[in-house]
Amino acid sequence: MTSLVVTAKDVVADGVVALTLARPDGGRLPDWTPGAHVDLTLGSGETRQYSLCGDRWDPSSYRVAVLREPDGRGGSRYVHDVLAVGDPVELGGPRNHFPLVPAPRYRFVAGGIGVTPLLPMIAAAEVLGADWSLLYGGRRRASMAFLDELPAGHATVVPQDEAGLLPLASWLGTVDDDTVVYACGPAPLLAAVEALVPAARLRTERFTTTEIAAPVRDTPFTVELARSGTTVTVDASVSVLEAMRREGATTLSSCERGTCGTCETTVLAGVPDHRDQVLADHERAAGDCMLPCVSRAATDHLVLDL
Ligand code: FES
Repeated sequence: MTSLVVTAKDVVADGVVALTLARPDGGRLPDWTPGAHVDLTLGSGETRQYSLCGDRWDPSSYRVAVLREPDGRGGSRYVHDVLAVGDPVELGGPRNHFPLVPAPRYRFVAGGIGVTPLLPMIAAAEVLGADWSLLYGGRRRASMAFLDELPAGHATVVPQDEAGLLPLASWLGTVDDDTVVYACGPAPLLAAVEALVPAARLRTERFTTTEIAAPVRDTPFTVELARSGTTVTVDASVSVLEAMRREGATTLSSCERGTCGTCETTVLAGVPDHRDQVLADHERAAGDCMLPCVSRAATDHLVLDL
């Protein structure tokens, strides 16, 4: 973890504040790429994940934006109501499970605060001279953050109270092989995009928890830790991470809910039963990594690179 301080806190839309974070000594921060997120451990002791949405080339500060979520678990209320300029925060990461892949053409779809990881992607697309456009929806114009930062001529802004729902099908048109669609927003929006765009041409990031099916097996399985030579048995009552801890073996973790990616581990053999909110569909299909805080095994035995 890295200790940072809040150097600015700005209201950027109704219900959205942007935090600028820096080292207390003003020193250099770890580099990051568009789509990356950080884990922030706030003074309340809780860890939350936020997309980096500032200038990717500024080495001395990070920016994140936080939507007030009245029905959330309290992290956003703490940020909005308690956290102040000068306060310390602990930072994990950055990590990137939503990277910008090379392509001649990008179509970005944002719902509400889902615009945040797309802003650095848009900046990168501009620098690269890629053909890009953005479809950005929100409840009201006043609740839509960073409208003033969108380059003119590329963004279609659709406040629902003025213009209704996003015209996804007509805006996307036919998605050809030169195009990659990036979408971030609530689950219904992502489901609508998934229905229109071939999976190979689509990258999504969810910021709300999706329904996870029951584990594919409820019988014990074994996990071999290849580097230490330890083998642990995981029964239905514990996670892989917890079973490893009981045997004195562990790996880095943060949320332990399958949402942050901190515990991502390489799978050397066996088939994982993915139960996280982090990995993209193509990463799940590859089966060569897993998040042991929540994911389990579809086979009797897994071998992890630990
Ligand atoms: S600790 Fe956050 S995904 Fe596993």
